[in-house]
Amino acid sequence: MKFIKSVSKPSDNDQMIVIVDANKFKKSVFLEKAENDAVLAGIESKRNMIQFNSGSVLKLVLPIYDASGWELSEKVRKMGAKFCSILNEHKAKHACVISFDKHLALAMAEGIMLSNYQFLKYFTDKKKRSNSLQNIHVLADTVEAKDLDYLNAVIDSTYIARDLVNEPHSFLNAVQLSEEFKKIGKEAGFNVEVWNESRIAAQKMGGILAVNKGSKIPPTFNIMEYKPKNANNKKPIVLVGKGVVYDTGGLSLKPTPMSMDHMKCDMAGSAVVVSVLNAVAKLGLPIHVVGLVPATDNWIGENSYAPGDVITMYSGTTVEVLNTDAEGRLVLADALHFAKKLNPMLVCDFATLTGAAVRAIGPYATAFMGNADDKLKQSVFESSYSVFERLVEFPLWQEYADELKSEIADMSNLGKGEGGQISAAKFLEHFTDYPWMHFDIAGPAFNHAADAYKPKGGTGVGVRLMIDFLIKQSQKTK
Ligand code: BES
Ligand code: MG
Ligand code: ZN
Repeated sequence: MKFIKSVSKPSDNDQMIVIVDANKFKKSVFLEKAENDAVLAGIESKRNMIQFNSGSVLKLVLPIYDASGWELSEKVRKMGAKFCSILNEHKAKHACVISFDKHLALAMAEGIMLSNYQFLKYFTDKKKRSNSLQNIHVLADTVEAKDLDYLNAVIDSTYIARDLVNEPHSFLNAVQLSEEFKKIGKEAGFNVEVWNESRIAAQKMGGILAVNKGSKIPPTFNIMEYKPKNANNKKPIVLVGKGVVYDTGGLSLKPTPMSMDHMKCDMAGSAVVVSVLNAVAKLGLPIHVVGLVPATDNWIGENSYAPGDVITMYSGTTVEVLNTDAEGRLVLADALHFAKKLNPMLVCDFATLTGAAVRAIGPYATAFMGNADDKLKQSVFESSYSVFERLVEFPLWQEYADELKSEIADMSNLGKGEGGQISAAKFLEHFTDYPWMHFDIAGPAFNHAADAYKPKGGTGVGVRLMIDFLIKQSQKTK
């Protein structure tokens, strides 16, 4: 899908967005004399934007005053959100971004297209509700085909993740999620293997089976792989995603308002995994990546697992289940144990894992923990600034593991309320023996109100971060 194209001049029906350097601006060939004068005056009075509606084309001028680097890119992406709504109000179909700087042109195009996302599947009057804006043209020196391929893959993949998160459980159960993975894999060019319930049972994946016990719909275990011949890494990078397609809490039932009512989002981690594989495969990156998704709902039924039960995990570890709502760690633990067999160079897991992560930092950042080396951590932090998906690191102290001691089994699945995002991570860590990074995306995965270019509902957080990180990794030779 081509959201953004490079052009050498604006087309006749293009609306225009002109990004200018406020410190150097004299005139732009795309503006009339009176418009140029108005921009000069606007810069003088430090205006954020200058809008011209009078002619046949709408012109939005964005003067850049001082910021630079990632702060400026984010500012421009956010302006893109504003411009996107102006363009749609004017029923614009296309707009051309003209910029003195390539990075700002790309950030603007990205902000606009990320904002232009809609989830209309369940409206009967989709056409009427549909945004007019279709795509963006970019006119800036030194924009290369690969810049646009990258940006188009980022937007396509973010849309895929948002769609999956926004799909309700009435459509997207565990079996359907696997169907979606297969469709995406076929189109992008990566392999998808789906284990059904009997295979999961034969493998004794006790965490997944316990969580699934109350459900009428069987679980799936999904293995996705992209392995190009020219991969630079000998050992794969493994991405693991929580695929809880709906979380009622189980017998430890959740209340409805602001809790169970949005728990269709509990597979957002799995959406990150498949969307990142989509980008990696479509871009043909020289990197070997495996995606693992344990998928089930956490339902209530006559066979539901109960608080106090002891279960045996895939690894053989026994777990006393003290709260059936702490189900994410149980399904993820089986996937993390499976990952050991792949001899990975790094495992990254994405999960809407804890309310504690939301309480700690709200929707503005991902709670990050891990034992991978400092180089890898530094690289992921650099990516987090480039794409403005912020990470806050929490410590993996032993005290939080001590909270998980059980009277009758190897571990319990419940720590203390305070710092609950850390005890959850300590639970997961038990099932790893490789470099590992954990992203608790419970806060930023699902917005209760639109926030600039991140809409209400699924945001796709994690997708842009991991694509950026994997591109950098693919450029390193090992
Ligand atoms: N899916 C939830 C976590 C969650 C909360 C995701 C808010 C998105 C937004 C997870 O399965 C859960 O229920 N966690 C419990 C764990 C607790 C019982 C130890 C929680 O955080 O309350
Ligand atoms: Mg839960
Ligand atoms: Zn959950």
